[in-house]
Amino acid sequence: MTTLTSTDAAPAGAATPAAEALALKLAATRRRVGALESSAHRRNSFMPYTPVAGTPYVELDGQRLLMMSGYSYLGLAGDPRLAAAAARAVDTYGTGAHGVRALAGTTPLHQELEAEVARFTERESALVFSSGYAANVGTIGALCGPGDHVFVDKLDHASIVDGCQLSGATVTRFRHNDPEHLDSRLRAAPATGVRLVVVDSVYSMDGDVAPLPALREVCDAHGALLMVDEAHALGVIGATGRGIEEHYDRQVRVDVKLGTLSKGIPSMGGWVAGSPDLVYHLRYGARPFLFSAALAPAQCGAALEALRILDREPHRVAHIQSESARFRTAMTDVGMRVGDSTTAVVPLIIGTDTQAYDYATTCREEGVVGLPVVTPAVPNGLARLRIAITAAHTSEHVDTAIDAFVRAAERRAVARA
Ligand SMILES: Cc1ncc(COP(=O)(O)O)c(C=O)c1O
Repeated sequence: MTTLTSTDAAPAGAATPAAEALALKLAATRRRVGALESSAHRRNSFMPYTPVAGTPYVELDGQRLLMMSGYSYLGLAGDPRLAAAAARAVDTYGTGAHGVRALAGTTPLHQELEAEVARFTERESALVFSSGYAANVGTIGALCGPGDHVFVDKLDHASIVDGCQLSGATVTRFRHNDPEHLDSRLRAAPATGVRLVVVDSVYSMDGDVAPLPALREVCDAHGALLMVDEAHALGVIGATGRGIEEHYDRQVRVDVKLGTLSKGIPSMGGWVAGSPDLVYHLRYGARPFLFSAALAPAQCGAALEALRILDREPHRVAHIQSESARFRTAMTDVGMRVGDSTTAVVPLIIGTDTQAYDYATTCREEGVVGLPVVTPAVPNGLARLRIAITAAHTSEHVDTAIDAFVRAAERRAVARA
Protein backbone atom coordinates (compact mmCIF):
# COMPACT_ATOMS: atom_id res chain seq x y z
CA MET A 1 0.00 0.00 0.00
CA THR A 2 1.34 3.50 -0.79
CA THR A 3 0.82 6.46 1.47
CA LEU A 4 0.77 10.13 0.54
CA THR A 5 3.78 10.84 2.71
CA SER A 6 5.90 7.91 1.56
CA THR A 7 9.44 9.05 0.78
CA ASP A 8 10.69 5.67 -0.47
CA ALA A 9 11.52 6.96 -3.95
CA ALA A 10 12.79 10.43 -3.02
CA PRO A 11 15.82 11.71 -1.14
CA ALA A 12 15.14 12.69 2.48
CA GLY A 13 13.46 16.10 2.68
CA ALA A 14 12.45 16.26 -1.02
CA ALA A 15 8.78 16.18 -1.96
CA THR A 16 7.69 13.27 -4.14
CA PRO A 17 5.90 14.01 -7.44
CA ALA A 18 2.72 12.66 -5.82
CA ALA A 19 3.09 14.97 -2.82
CA GLU A 20 3.74 17.91 -5.15
CA ALA A 21 0.67 17.10 -7.22
CA LEU A 22 -1.41 16.93 -4.07
CA ALA A 23 0.07 20.19 -2.75
CA LEU A 24 -1.07 21.93 -5.95
CA LYS A 25 -4.63 20.71 -5.40
CA LEU A 26 -4.63 21.83 -1.76
CA ALA A 27 -3.28 25.26 -2.70
CA ALA A 28 -5.90 25.64 -5.45
CA THR A 29 -8.71 25.13 -2.93
CA ARG A 30 -7.16 27.68 -0.56
CA ARG A 31 -6.89 30.17 -3.44
CA ARG A 32 -10.45 29.58 -4.71
CA VAL A 33 -12.15 29.90 -1.31
CA GLY A 34 -9.73 32.56 -0.05
CA ALA A 35 -10.54 34.80 -3.02
CA LEU A 36 -14.12 35.03 -1.74
CA GLU A 37 -13.67 34.69 2.01
CA SER A 38 -10.74 37.10 2.23
CA SER A 39 -11.42 38.18 5.83
CA ALA A 40 -13.23 36.85 8.89
CA HIS A 41 -15.93 39.47 8.25
CA ARG A 42 -16.63 38.08 4.76
CA ARG A 43 -16.83 34.42 5.80
CA ASN A 44 -20.09 32.69 4.92
CA SER A 45 -19.22 28.99 4.83
CA PHE A 46 -18.95 26.65 7.82
CA MET A 47 -20.21 29.30 10.25
CA PRO A 48 -21.20 27.85 13.67
CA TYR A 49 -24.80 29.03 14.07
CA THR A 50 -26.61 28.24 17.32
CA PRO A 51 -30.41 28.16 16.93
CA VAL A 52 -32.42 30.31 19.37
CA ALA A 53 -35.02 27.83 20.65
CA GLY A 54 -38.55 28.27 19.36
CA THR A 55 -37.58 31.03 16.89
CA PRO A 56 -36.10 31.30 13.39
CA TYR A 57 -33.18 33.26 14.87
CA VAL A 58 -29.62 32.02 15.30
CA GLU A 59 -26.68 33.31 17.30
CA LEU A 60 -23.31 33.90 15.77
CA ASP A 61 -20.41 35.53 17.64
CA GLY A 62 -22.85 36.95 20.19
CA GLN A 63 -25.06 38.50 17.48
CA ARG A 64 -28.70 37.47 17.01
CA LEU A 65 -29.56 37.04 13.32
CA LEU A 66 -32.74 36.09 11.47
CA MET A 67 -31.94 32.87 9.57
CA MET A 68 -33.41 33.04 6.05
CA SER A 69 -31.43 30.24 4.43
CA GLY A 70 -32.28 27.15 6.48
CA TYR A 71 -33.79 23.95 5.07
CA SER A 72 -36.22 23.16 7.86
CA TYR A 73 -39.23 24.15 5.77
CA LEU A 74 -41.89 22.94 8.18
CA GLY A 75 -40.41 24.83 11.13
CA LEU A 76 -40.20 21.64 13.19
CA ALA A 77 -36.44 21.50 13.81
CA GLY A 78 -36.65 22.62 17.45
CA ASP A 79 -40.07 21.10 18.14
CA PRO A 80 -40.15 19.43 21.57
CA ARG A 81 -42.41 16.65 20.21
CA LEU A 82 -39.62 15.52 17.88
CA ALA A 83 -37.03 15.74 20.65
CA ALA A 84 -39.26 13.57 22.87
CA ALA A 85 -39.74 11.01 20.07
CA ALA A 86 -35.98 10.87 19.47
CA ALA A 87 -35.36 10.42 23.22
CA ARG A 88 -37.89 7.57 23.39
CA ALA A 89 -36.14 5.87 20.48
CA VAL A 90 -32.76 6.18 22.20
CA ASP A 91 -34.22 4.77 25.45
CA THR A 92 -35.52 1.72 23.62
CA TYR A 93 -32.92 1.10 20.92
CA GLY A 94 -29.81 2.97 22.04
CA THR A 95 -27.77 5.52 20.12
CA GLY A 96 -26.04 3.27 17.60
CA ALA A 97 -27.19 1.68 14.40
CA HIS A 98 -26.48 -1.95 15.46
CA GLY A 99 -25.18 -2.70 11.95
CA VAL A 100 -26.40 -2.68 8.39
CA ARG A 101 -30.11 -3.09 7.79
CA ALA A 102 -29.82 -6.54 6.18
CA LEU A 103 -28.09 -7.91 9.31
CA ALA A 104 -28.67 -6.55 12.85
CA GLY A 105 -29.61 -2.96 11.90
CA THR A 106 -33.37 -3.25 11.34
CA THR A 107 -35.59 -2.36 14.32
CA PRO A 108 -39.39 -2.20 14.55
CA LEU A 109 -38.96 1.58 14.38
CA HIS A 110 -37.41 1.33 10.89
CA GLN A 111 -40.38 -0.74 9.78
CA GLU A 112 -42.82 1.72 11.34
CA LEU A 113 -41.07 4.63 9.62
CA GLU A 114 -41.11 2.85 6.25
CA ALA A 115 -44.83 2.11 6.62
CA GLU A 116 -45.45 5.80 7.45
CA VAL A 117 -43.38 7.04 4.48
CA ALA A 118 -45.31 4.68 2.18
CA ARG A 119 -48.65 5.86 3.56
CA PHE A 120 -47.73 9.55 3.40
CA THR A 121 -46.37 9.31 -0.13
CA GLU A 122 -49.35 7.24 -1.30
CA ARG A 123 -47.35 4.17 -2.28
CA GLU A 124 -47.47 0.54 -1.21
CA SER A 125 -43.89 0.30 0.05
CA ALA A 126 -40.94 2.40 1.08
CA LEU A 127 -37.33 2.02 2.11
CA VAL A 128 -35.29 4.42 4.24
CA PHE A 129 -31.63 5.11 3.59
CA SER A 130 -29.12 6.82 5.88
CA SER A 131 -29.20 10.00 3.73
CA GLY A 132 -30.92 11.47 0.69
CA TYR A 133 -27.58 11.35 -1.07
CA ALA A 134 -27.33 7.61 -0.42
CA ALA A 135 -30.93 7.15 -1.59
CA ASN A 136 -30.18 8.73 -4.98
CA VAL A 137 -26.85 6.99 -5.51
CA GLY A 138 -28.24 3.64 -4.36
CA THR A 139 -31.48 3.80 -6.31
CA ILE A 140 -30.02 4.88 -9.64
CA GLY A 141 -27.20 2.34 -9.25
CA ALA A 142 -29.66 -0.46 -8.48
CA LEU A 143 -32.00 0.39 -11.35
CA CYS A 144 -29.43 1.10 -14.05
CA GLY A 145 -26.08 -0.27 -15.14
CA PRO A 146 -23.99 -0.65 -18.28
CA GLY A 147 -26.30 -0.96 -21.29
CA ASP A 148 -29.01 1.17 -19.65
CA HIS A 149 -29.74 4.89 -20.21
CA VAL A 150 -30.40 7.63 -17.68
CA PHE A 151 -31.71 11.05 -18.76
CA VAL A 152 -31.15 13.88 -16.30
CA ASP A 153 -32.21 17.51 -16.19
CA LYS A 154 -29.22 19.85 -16.46
CA LEU A 155 -29.98 21.24 -12.98
CA ASP A 156 -30.50 17.91 -11.20
CA HIS A 157 -28.93 17.59 -7.76
CA ALA A 158 -25.33 16.39 -7.44
CA SER A 159 -26.44 13.13 -5.77
CA ILE A 160 -28.40 12.24 -8.92
CA VAL A 161 -25.40 13.07 -11.10
CA ASP A 162 -23.09 11.00 -8.86
CA GLY A 163 -25.57 8.09 -8.88
CA CYS A 164 -25.58 8.16 -12.68
CA GLN A 165 -21.80 8.17 -12.91
CA LEU A 166 -21.40 5.31 -10.46
CA SER A 167 -24.11 3.23 -12.14
CA GLY A 168 -22.08 2.80 -15.35
CA ALA A 169 -25.18 3.56 -17.44
CA THR A 170 -25.06 5.94 -20.40
CA VAL A 171 -26.01 9.37 -19.12
CA THR A 172 -27.69 12.06 -21.24
CA ARG A 173 -28.49 15.55 -20.00
CA PHE A 174 -31.42 17.58 -21.27
CA ARG A 175 -32.12 21.30 -20.99
CA HIS A 176 -33.64 22.45 -17.74
CA ASN A 177 -37.41 21.88 -17.50
CA ASP A 178 -37.59 21.29 -21.25
CA PRO A 179 -39.76 18.21 -22.10
CA GLU A 180 -39.27 18.80 -25.86
CA HIS A 181 -35.53 18.55 -25.48
CA LEU A 182 -35.97 15.38 -23.41
CA ASP A 183 -38.16 14.02 -26.20
CA SER A 184 -35.41 14.61 -28.77
CA ARG A 185 -32.80 13.07 -26.46
CA LEU A 186 -34.94 9.95 -25.93
CA ARG A 187 -35.62 9.71 -29.65
CA ALA A 188 -31.89 9.79 -30.41
CA ALA A 189 -30.93 7.13 -27.83
CA PRO A 190 -31.02 3.37 -28.47
CA ALA A 191 -34.33 1.85 -27.35
CA THR A 192 -32.64 -0.91 -25.37
CA GLY A 193 -32.18 -1.59 -21.68
CA VAL A 194 -33.75 0.41 -18.86
CA ARG A 195 -34.53 4.03 -19.77
CA LEU A 196 -34.81 6.14 -16.66
CA VAL A 197 -35.62 9.87 -16.55
CA VAL A 198 -34.67 11.57 -13.26
CA VAL A 199 -35.72 15.08 -12.25
CA ASP A 200 -35.94 17.16 -9.08
CA SER A 201 -39.54 18.01 -8.14
CA VAL A 202 -38.40 21.42 -6.86
CA TYR A 203 -34.97 22.66 -7.95
CA SER A 204 -32.91 23.37 -4.89
CA MET A 205 -31.13 26.53 -6.07
CA ASP A 206 -33.98 27.97 -8.18
CA GLY A 207 -37.23 27.01 -6.47
CA ASP A 208 -39.00 26.15 -9.73
CA VAL A 209 -41.08 23.00 -10.22
CA ALA A 210 -40.60 20.25 -12.83
CA PRO A 211 -43.32 20.20 -15.56
CA LEU A 212 -44.51 16.76 -14.50
CA PRO A 213 -47.51 16.17 -16.81
CA ALA A 214 -45.44 16.99 -19.93
CA LEU A 215 -42.50 14.89 -18.72
CA ARG A 216 -44.84 11.95 -18.06
CA GLU A 217 -46.21 12.23 -21.57
CA VAL A 218 -42.72 12.18 -23.09
CA CYS A 219 -41.66 9.23 -20.90
CA ASP A 220 -44.76 7.26 -21.89
CA ALA A 221 -44.16 7.96 -25.58
CA HIS A 222 -40.68 6.44 -25.29
CA GLY A 223 -41.28 3.71 -22.72
CA ALA A 224 -39.12 5.44 -20.12
CA LEU A 225 -39.51 5.28 -16.34
CA LEU A 226 -39.90 8.56 -14.46
CA MET A 227 -38.21 9.16 -11.10
CA VAL A 228 -38.55 12.34 -9.02
CA ASP A 229 -36.46 13.65 -6.15
CA GLU A 230 -38.87 15.30 -3.70
CA ALA A 231 -36.14 16.67 -1.38
CA HIS A 232 -37.49 20.23 -1.54
CA ALA A 233 -41.09 19.27 -2.29
CA LEU A 234 -42.17 17.13 0.68
CA GLY A 235 -44.02 19.40 3.09
CA VAL A 236 -43.64 22.30 0.66
CA ILE A 237 -45.76 21.77 -2.48
CA GLY A 238 -49.19 20.21 -2.89
CA ALA A 239 -52.12 21.28 -0.70
CA THR A 240 -51.05 18.94 2.14
CA GLY A 241 -47.32 18.84 1.38
CA ARG A 242 -47.37 15.51 -0.41
CA GLY A 243 -45.17 16.80 -3.20
CA ILE A 244 -45.28 17.05 -6.95
CA GLU A 245 -48.14 14.66 -7.77
CA GLU A 246 -50.42 16.54 -5.38
CA HIS A 247 -49.13 19.85 -6.78
CA TYR A 248 -50.48 18.78 -10.21
CA ASP A 249 -53.79 17.57 -8.68
CA ARG A 250 -52.74 13.92 -9.05
CA GLN A 251 -53.19 14.06 -12.84
CA VAL A 252 -50.14 11.84 -13.30
CA ARG A 253 -48.07 9.36 -11.29
CA VAL A 254 -44.34 8.82 -11.23
CA ASP A 255 -42.70 5.40 -11.17
CA VAL A 256 -40.12 6.09 -8.48
CA LYS A 257 -40.48 8.70 -5.73
CA LEU A 258 -37.50 9.61 -3.60
CA GLY A 259 -36.77 12.21 -0.96
CA THR A 260 -34.90 13.13 2.18
CA LEU A 261 -35.68 13.25 5.87
CA SER A 262 -33.26 16.14 6.36
CA LYS A 263 -35.16 19.18 5.13
CA GLY A 264 -38.93 19.66 5.62
CA ILE A 265 -38.72 16.61 7.89
CA PRO A 266 -35.93 17.80 10.20
CA SER A 267 -34.09 14.57 10.92
CA MET A 268 -31.59 12.70 8.76
CA GLY A 269 -32.04 10.02 6.11
CA GLY A 270 -33.49 9.46 2.68
CA TRP A 271 -36.43 7.46 1.39
CA VAL A 272 -37.68 5.75 -1.74
CA ALA A 273 -41.32 4.83 -2.23
CA GLY A 274 -42.88 2.63 -4.89
CA SER A 275 -44.09 -0.87 -5.59
CA PRO A 276 -43.22 -3.76 -3.25
CA ASP A 277 -41.10 -5.28 -6.04
CA LEU A 278 -39.12 -2.07 -6.46
CA VAL A 279 -38.47 -1.82 -2.72
CA TYR A 280 -37.52 -5.50 -2.50
CA HIS A 281 -35.04 -5.00 -5.34
CA LEU A 282 -33.51 -1.91 -3.67
CA ARG A 283 -33.15 -3.72 -0.35
CA TYR A 284 -30.91 -6.29 -1.95
CA GLY A 285 -29.40 -4.20 -4.74
CA ALA A 286 -28.77 -0.63 -3.53
CA ARG A 287 -25.15 -0.63 -2.42
CA PRO A 288 -25.23 2.45 -0.10
CA PHE A 289 -28.16 0.74 1.65
CA LEU A 290 -26.56 -2.71 1.83
CA PHE A 291 -23.07 -1.62 2.81
CA SER A 292 -23.67 1.27 5.21
CA ALA A 293 -25.03 1.36 8.75
CA ALA A 294 -28.77 1.68 9.32
CA LEU A 295 -30.37 5.04 9.96
CA ALA A 296 -29.91 5.72 13.71
CA PRO A 297 -32.99 5.03 15.88
CA ALA A 298 -33.14 8.62 17.20
CA GLN A 299 -33.40 9.90 13.62
CA CYS A 300 -36.10 7.33 12.81
CA GLY A 301 -38.11 8.43 15.88
CA ALA A 302 -37.84 12.13 15.00
CA ALA A 303 -38.71 11.55 11.33
CA LEU A 304 -41.73 9.41 12.19
CA GLU A 305 -43.06 12.04 14.58
CA ALA A 306 -42.50 14.84 12.02
CA LEU A 307 -44.41 12.94 9.32
CA ARG A 308 -47.33 12.43 11.70
CA ILE A 309 -47.31 16.12 12.66
CA LEU A 310 -47.24 17.12 9.00
CA ASP A 311 -50.32 14.97 8.46
CA ARG A 312 -52.17 16.62 11.35
CA GLU A 313 -50.95 20.19 10.73
CA PRO A 314 -51.36 20.97 7.02
CA HIS A 315 -51.63 24.68 7.94
CA ARG A 316 -47.82 24.64 8.07
CA VAL A 317 -47.77 23.92 4.33
CA ALA A 318 -50.34 26.62 3.58
CA HIS A 319 -48.30 29.12 5.59
CA ILE A 320 -45.08 28.32 3.68
CA GLN A 321 -46.93 28.74 0.38
CA SER A 322 -48.63 32.05 1.22
CA GLU A 323 -45.61 33.67 2.89
CA SER A 324 -43.20 32.62 0.15
CA ALA A 325 -45.58 34.07 -2.47
CA ARG A 326 -45.70 37.32 -0.49
CA PHE A 327 -41.89 37.37 -0.16
CA ARG A 328 -41.39 36.75 -3.89
CA THR A 329 -43.81 39.51 -4.82
CA ALA A 330 -42.19 41.97 -2.41
CA MET A 331 -38.72 41.24 -3.77
CA THR A 332 -39.76 41.48 -7.43
CA ASP A 333 -41.64 44.71 -6.69
CA VAL A 334 -38.35 46.30 -5.63
CA GLY A 335 -36.62 44.95 -8.73
CA MET A 336 -34.74 42.00 -7.22
CA ARG A 337 -34.36 38.99 -9.53
CA VAL A 338 -35.94 35.79 -8.19
CA GLY A 339 -35.77 33.70 -11.38
CA ASP A 340 -38.61 31.25 -11.96
CA SER A 341 -39.23 30.41 -8.31
CA THR A 342 -42.78 29.45 -7.37
CA THR A 343 -41.98 27.68 -4.07
CA ALA A 344 -40.43 28.21 -0.64
CA VAL A 345 -36.97 28.38 -2.22
CA VAL A 346 -36.48 31.91 -3.51
CA PRO A 347 -33.12 32.84 -5.02
CA LEU A 348 -32.05 36.47 -4.90
CA ILE A 349 -29.88 36.48 -8.01
CA ILE A 350 -27.06 38.98 -7.62
CA GLY A 351 -24.36 38.47 -10.30
CA THR A 352 -20.73 37.52 -9.80
CA ASP A 353 -19.57 35.33 -6.94
CA THR A 354 -17.89 38.33 -5.32
CA GLN A 355 -21.01 40.48 -5.60
CA ALA A 356 -23.11 37.72 -3.97
CA TYR A 357 -20.58 37.46 -1.13
CA ASP A 358 -20.54 41.23 -0.64
CA TYR A 359 -24.33 41.33 -0.57
CA ALA A 360 -24.54 38.42 1.93
CA THR A 361 -22.06 40.18 4.20
CA THR A 362 -24.10 43.39 4.11
CA CYS A 363 -27.32 41.43 4.79
CA ARG A 364 -25.68 40.00 7.91
CA GLU A 365 -24.83 43.52 9.03
CA GLU A 366 -28.55 44.28 8.57
CA GLY A 367 -29.43 41.35 10.86
CA VAL A 368 -30.41 38.60 8.39
CA VAL A 369 -28.61 35.49 7.17
CA GLY A 370 -28.97 34.94 3.42
CA LEU A 371 -26.32 32.47 2.35
CA PRO A 372 -24.53 32.88 -0.99
CA VAL A 373 -24.45 30.09 -3.56
CA VAL A 374 -21.67 30.55 -6.09
CA THR A 375 -19.97 28.72 -8.97
CA PRO A 376 -19.76 25.83 -9.66
CA ALA A 377 -23.10 25.20 -7.85
CA VAL A 378 -24.73 27.81 -10.12
CA PRO A 379 -23.68 29.17 -13.55
CA ASN A 380 -21.12 31.96 -13.76
CA GLY A 381 -22.74 35.39 -13.31
CA LEU A 382 -25.84 33.95 -11.60
CA ALA A 383 -24.49 33.77 -8.04
CA ARG A 384 -27.29 34.24 -5.57
CA LEU A 385 -28.51 34.21 -2.02
CA ARG A 386 -30.62 31.10 -1.58
CA ILE A 387 -33.53 32.14 0.61
CA ALA A 388 -36.04 29.65 2.03
CA ILE A 389 -39.29 30.67 3.68
CA THR A 390 -40.31 28.24 6.42
CA ALA A 391 -43.29 27.68 8.68
CA ALA A 392 -41.17 29.09 11.53
CA HIS A 393 -41.20 32.52 9.85
CA THR A 394 -44.20 34.59 10.90
CA SER A 395 -45.43 37.37 8.60
CA GLU A 396 -43.51 39.80 10.84
CA HIS A 397 -40.28 37.84 10.35
CA VAL A 398 -40.82 37.86 6.59
CA ASP A 399 -41.41 41.64 6.69
CA THR A 400 -38.25 42.11 8.75
CA ALA A 401 -36.31 40.06 6.18
CA ILE A 402 -37.76 42.00 3.22
CA ASP A 403 -36.74 45.33 4.81
CA ALA A 404 -33.23 44.05 5.57
CA PHE A 405 -32.69 42.61 2.06
CA VAL A 406 -33.86 45.88 0.49
CA ARG A 407 -31.64 48.04 2.76
CA ALA A 408 -28.65 45.80 1.96
CA ALA A 409 -29.39 46.01 -1.78
CA GLU A 410 -29.45 49.81 -1.54
CA ARG A 411 -26.18 49.93 0.40
CA ARG A 412 -24.48 47.59 -2.09
CA ALA A 413 -26.12 49.15 -5.14
CA VAL A 414 -27.27 45.69 -6.25
CA ALA A 415 -28.40 45.83 -9.89
CA ARG A 416 -32.19 45.73 -10.00
CA ALA A 417 -34.70 45.42 -12.80
C1 LIG B 1 -32.48 17.74 -4.48
C2 LIG B 1 -31.66 17.07 -3.42
N1 LIG B 1 -31.58 15.73 -3.41
C3 LIG B 1 -30.86 15.07 -2.49
C4 LIG B 1 -30.16 15.74 -1.52
C5 LIG B 1 -29.35 14.98 -0.52
O1 LIG B 1 -30.08 14.81 0.66
P1 LIG B 1 -29.35 14.60 2.06
O2 LIG B 1 -28.85 15.95 2.50
O3 LIG B 1 -30.43 14.05 2.95
O4 LIG B 1 -28.24 13.64 1.85
C6 LIG B 1 -30.22 17.14 -1.47
C7 LIG B 1 -29.49 17.86 -0.42
O5 LIG B 1 -29.31 19.05 -0.41
C8 LIG B 1 -30.99 17.83 -2.44
O6 LIG B 1 -31.06 19.16 -2.46
